Amino acid sequence: MVKICCIGAGYVGGPTMAVIALKCPSIEVAVVDISKPRIAAWNSDQLPIYEPGLDAVVKECRGRNLFFSTDVEKHVFEADIVFVSVNTPTKTQGLGAGKAADLTYWESAARMIADVSKSDKIVVEKSTVPVKTAEAIEKILTHNSKGIKFQILSNPEFLAEGTAIEDLFKPDRVLIGGRETPEGQKALQTLKEVYAHWVPEERILTTNLWSAELSKLAANAFLAQRISSVNAMSALCEATGANIQQVSFAVGTDTRIGPKFLNASVGFGGSCFQKDILNLVYICECNGLPEVAEYWKQVIKINDYQKSRFVNRVVSSMFNTVSSKKIAILGFAFKKDTGDTRETPAIDVCKGLLGDKANLSIYDPQVTEDQIQRDLSMNKFDWDHPIHLQPTSPSTVKKVSVVWDAYEATKDAHGICILTEWDEFKKLDYQRIYENMQKPAFVFDGRNIVDADKLRDIGFIVYSIGKPLDAWLKDMPAVA
Ligand code: UDX
Ligand code: ADP
Repeated sequence: MVKICCIGAGYVGGPTMAVIALKCPSIEVAVVDISKPRIAAWNSDQLPIYEPGLDAVVKECRGRNLFFSTDVEKHVFEADIVFVSVNTPTKTQGLGAGKAADLTYWESAARMIADVSKSDKIVVEKSTVPVKTAEAIEKILTHNSKGIKFQILSNPEFLAEGTAIEDLFKPDRVLIGGRETPEGQKALQTLKEVYAHWVPEERILTTNLWSAELSKLAANAFLAQRISSVNAMSALCEATGANIQQVSFAVGTDTRIGPKFLNASVGFGGSCFQKDILNLVYICECNGLPEVAEYWKQVIKINDYQKSRFVNRVVSSMFNTVSSKKIAILGFAFKKDTGDTRETPAIDVCKGLLGDKANLSIYDPQVTEDQIQRDLSMNKFDWDHPIHLQPTSPSTVKKVSVVWDAYEATKDAHGICILTEWDEFKKLDYQRIYENMQKPAFVFDGRNIVDADKLRDIGFIVYSIGKPLDAWLKDMPAVA
């Protein structure tokens, strides 16, 4: 029986391994992590991540051919294939600070693999790491190998949170990069056979190591660029009276462009986009390509601009001050159907409003109070470390309360900011909400999900990203 071990039971490792276990009953899959609470949660009814469809997959396989454990060394020792899916934070100090990936966790995982291995292994890079990381890891492994042969493969993950299970069941493609030696090709074939249990052969692409790694960064940079492009257009729409949804639709009907990923928003978030672009920028700079680096940097700059533009709209609309006003924040996760808050635009928007002394009342169906307080008190790059190494006991931000109901959050509020496109926010009783708010009552829709005309009929002053402005807002121009 082939044995797989995955180091890192996070958003990538957990769902990916669960689906491999489901689709390959003949393979034994162990997911290991240094975090005891995380593994305990994977072994309980309350999984550590919220992902539609994940519960059912885990229930079916756990204890059969899927195991979650903190015994990292035992499972690595036994495995034929080791996936490494550990944190790759942005460096905060030293060479490449603010851009380059900090490979501390990857390096320690590689050294541990070399230490405990007594048989040949395939080591698969699964987390997003910069181009040429595989080479560094290969060096660590071979220099500590004691005669054992390691083959390193890069198998970047393309799943999106909220649709992870669907994406894993029906991937657009599976990409596997390997060495162009006979041993490298053999390893590549072994991993290909795992995916071939459910993915059509023509969708399993094989490349050299560096192409696979760069493709991941490139794909995320292209996707993020679409959002920054449409967000840049949204500012122009507001200034001219065009409607971004009409513009996006018209642009997307061109088959060369396509309709997906053209929704204007308060900004993109998530664990990948910003980090991957920063890596790309760093790699370009290191390779003497400052113009290319500058080009990609702009995607992040527009994203930051979009978030501060939103905050400015809120403040300027409300008589240029939100000091001591109650602002309801609906949605904190970086997108719907996930409880993940990594790099969520809500962090910068909330910090911006707190900077103007607002009182925030936050509701998100999947994010806990502890997580929100942690996010609002954490430094920029601290989020991407194993949880037990993150700053402990966050000092609670006093002007923030977290509630478990949208009606509670909006009660007596002066304004509402919708920051995540949760379906339930479309179906709220806005008449009831209006009646319980201070007047004039404002809605700032950062995701374009409410029916602005209906809300205006109720009496709200509504701001929708990239749409023709209310007369009220026109008189109060917001310049970032
Ligand atoms: C992304 C990639 O899609 C995935 O392939 C990769 O493996 C990891 O990074 P993810 O971060 O989970 O996945 O979410 P994604 O759906 O890409 O959304 C990223 C951000 O962009 C979210 O904040 C989302 O709200 C925002 N977004 C997306 C928009 O603002 N407008 C859009 O049209 C689409
Ligand atoms: P991703 O979104 O890439 O899956 P996560 O942060 O959700 O990232 O998951 C990474 C996991 O890797 C964390 O649960 C962390 O505890 C774990 N981890 C980090 N370093 C090691 C290590 N050396 N051995 C085992 N697990 C590790």
